[in-house]
Amino acid sequence: MKTTIILMTVFILAAAGFAYAAPEESLHTIVLPELRVELKAGGGKDRTEILCNVCHSLDYITTQPRVPRAQWTATVNKMIKVMGAPINEEDAKKIIDYLVANYGTGN
Ligand code: HEC
Repeated sequence: MKTTIILMTVFILAAAGFAYAAPEESLHTIVLPELRVELKAGGGKDRTEILCNVCHSLDYITTQPRVPRAQWTATVNKMIKVMGAPINEEDAKKIIDYLVANYGTGN
């Protein structure tokens, strides 16, 4: 009986010690990179920021080379038709105008 009580006490203390020590040993801290991409101010920025950020970061826009309207139109249409972006025609027009004005070649 005495041995059982001693064994149980040892077991409980060991379990408690393990439970206490485990989280400390497995605790890591990581610092995530700042992912926020600030788009240039301009008409259509809001729609672009919301609708083009659903599937990927906005740096897909900011890191592209400057391209003409035809290219931005093709890209936005591809996002809608191929990727399934839920963007209506009115918003697509606003977004294309915004992209051409701020991330285009000006034509
Ligand atoms: C439904 C999800 C979705 C939405 C919403 C979306 N994209 Fe994409 N986009 C993708 C995927 C997936 C890729 C990666 C394609 C690849 O790697 O070939 C991509 C890639 C891109 C690229 C890289 C070039 C290319 O043609 O692949 C650009 C630029 C881009 N997206 C811009 C936009 C813009 C602008 C919008 C808003 C109009 C937008 N995306 C919204 C899914 C989306």
